[in-house]
Amino acid sequence: MLINRQAYRTIWVSGSPTAYSNIVNIIDQTKLPHHFETITIDSLEQMIAAIKTMQVRGAPLIGAAAAYGVCLALQRDTSDDYIISVAQLLIHSRPTAVNLRWAVQRMLNKILVLNPLQRLEAAWLEAAIICNEDVQLNQAIGQHGLALIKNVHAQLLSPQSRPINILTHCNAGWLATVDFGTALSPIYAAHDAGVAVHVWVDETRPRNQGASLTAWELAQHGVPHTVISDNAGGHLMQHGQVDMVIVGADRVTSTGDVCNKIGTYLKALAAFDNKVPFYAAVPSPTIDWLMIDGLKEIEIEERSAHEVSHMIGRLSNGEIAEINILPPNNLTVETQVANPAFDVTPARLVTGIITELGVYTPDQLVSIKS
Ligand code: MRU
Repeated sequence: MLINRQAYRTIWVSGSPTAYSNIVNIIDQTKLPHHFETITIDSLEQMIAAIKTMQVRGAPLIGAAAAYGVCLALQRDTSDDYIISVAQLLIHSRPTAVNLRWAVQRMLNKILVLNPLQRLEAAWLEAAIICNEDVQLNQAIGQHGLALIKNVHAQLLSPQSRPINILTHCNAGWLATVDFGTALSPIYAAHDAGVAVHVWVDETRPRNQGASLTAWELAQHGVPHTVISDNAGGHLMQHGQVDMVIVGADRVTSTGDVCNKIGTYLKALAAFDNKVPFYAAVPSPTIDWLMIDGLKEIEIEERSAHEVSHMIGRLSNGEIAEINILPPNNLTVETQVANPAFDVTPARLVTGIITELGVYTPDQLVSIKS
């Protein structure tokens, strides 16, 4: 994607991919939208911290970051025991997105069969392949989603006279992947193909990935969009102002249950009640073929209370400040905070899953299992 006319991916390696002391570069997403900063990562510990603090975030991107985490660890020690312990640390750094397990397992499959002297080079190559594949998968999602958007747009009463209104939640754009995004990939493809698209962007409390990241991406690319509070989507749907919903996902079960950022389920309920088509856009590494019941089986990450009690923003003098929005602690009872970070939308509320292979109803999804 272009940022100030320079092409960027969200993660890249400095040095030769076959060298023995590479560093990994990321865009620090905790600084957006106020500052665009890149940082270098040269150790496993730093990579795990970047994933936990959400300097890198989004299911496909944390998968890619974990793959590079394995490479950085191998620069220190290539023994079986060490690699297996590192794999567990990476997989558990954020529990909900299945892409972490998928990417780390793929790295293990590649390197554990090799002689320790061959492992480092093979790991850097495999991580680069994972990144390139992610870009290709997301591009393909964009093309399948584009056909879908054109179809929904053509069915509107007067498609020539107004844009298609698409609601999205959280950030499933290029920042959440290596490039292109998942939910936003079809939107970029439609915009680039000349389809008039307008995006309703849920702000996505508590961390505001919609207001901070999705709005920033869409603004960079020139896609018309409007940020709304998380509670506004249902009202807009009741008044015919949402033509379709497209979200990303952190894990989709083999039966089509969609686990995504907290609040997605409420949007799906409102969409169902208002007959608005609800799609999840996911590359196949986000599908967990081992799971069949998302509500019972998916571990929902509980994040810190601080994310709910505090907000970060830009003051009128340009300074970035963090404020506490809760009552003070010295009242009769202390205010408690809970912060479940994801929810599960049952397959019955999902119109379709947009994958790199095409668009499937939840019950058709299992047909693409290879
Ligand atoms: O907690 P986050 O910001 O990592 O959550 C991200 C989401 O929920 C995205 O919608 C999901 O990972 C899909 S990313 C293409």
